[in-house]
Amino acid sequence: MVICSNKRIVHSTGVKHQGATSQHYSPTKVMCLKITYNCFLVSSGIILVPDKGVGVSAVIMDGKAISKEIQTEITQEVAQFVEQAGITPCLAAVLVGDDPASEVYVRNKHRACERVGITSQMHKLPASTTQKELLTLINQLNLANDVHGILIQLPLPEGIDTLLVLDAVDPRKDVDAFHPENVGLISQGRPRFLPCTPHGVQQILDRCGIEMSGKHVVIVGRSDIVGKPMSMLLTARNSTRGPQAANATVTLCHSRTRNLPEVCRSADVIVAAIGVAKFITADMVKPGAAVVDVGINRTEEGLCGDVDFEKVREVAGHITPVPGGVGPLTVTMLMYNTLDAAKLFAGR
Ligand code: GUN
Repeated sequence: MVICSNKRIVHSTGVKHQGATSQHYSPTKVMCLKITYNCFLVSSGIILVPDKGVGVSAVIMDGKAISKEIQTEITQEVAQFVEQAGITPCLAAVLVGDDPASEVYVRNKHRACERVGITSQMHKLPASTTQKELLTLINQLNLANDVHGILIQLPLPEGIDTLLVLDAVDPRKDVDAFHPENVGLISQGRPRFLPCTPHGVQQILDRCGIEMSGKHVVIVGRSDIVGKPMSMLLTARNSTRGPQAANATVTLCHSRTRNLPEVCRSADVIVAAIGVAKFITADMVKPGAAVVDVGINRTEEGLCGDVDFEKVREVAGHITPVPGGVGPLTVTMLMYNTLDAAKLFAGR
């Protein structure tokens, strides 16, 4: 197995197979770099998939380790900010109802705050909370000088207009970057806050040494939380990590995309955020491509991503696991935004 955590790449067994070129294949079984590949003819050309059991395996992009490293950086920055500004950053999390998954996410966010030196408030409201009551709480948090970031955990219970509620958050405290003003700023390449999950994906790829500039990235899923903002971050001219982590050519795919497997096979990088367990299969991945799995699906077999990990790892060059891939980064980038929100407040 090969593990990657922020450019430290440890090879134990296996041979990388990114050198497959057109000279190396014949119509059926082919040998490339001493590895046997299965050769598939598809309309766009030929796909080489390594034979089972050859010991070829993608570099695992270790989101947990990368997240820990970024949290160490944030902890130092928070301490410095507290000393200079005399303000401790504070995140207010609002959880409505008793969705067990949301409770876990909010608890993880609370623990991360503690680790990096950010204060957190937890506002847990019953499922019976009315929209008016929720809006009243948001207004109070908007006005509170000791609250710098506000997070409304989604999904909200039925009967509450999610967009109306998210629009009510002061955009200067909108650490999820869901407010239309913040989405607009991102689309114009002058972000106030960066959306947590897409920013986390960008951090993982860059810290694993995968350049985005000029690459073809296929994003599968057009959600407002991941797919759409991911496309904006990767097509921007610059990023928090420099221009090499942006400037990609992005194809944003969705349920109506024609020839999805073929589009995916043309990708140097696939970001899977469709919400369907094991949706991305090995035949959809170009050998050597980087595959980032944003999915968290609860199945009978347990937690599972949008990527068929065991099969795809035999084809991809880099891959994130689920759990332990993108998830930890989402929480960490929220800490990053809360510190930024406190800095904004200090500069008002
Ligand atoms: N629910 C699932 N993902 C998210 C997220 O990134 N932010 C919030 N607020 N709720 C979520």
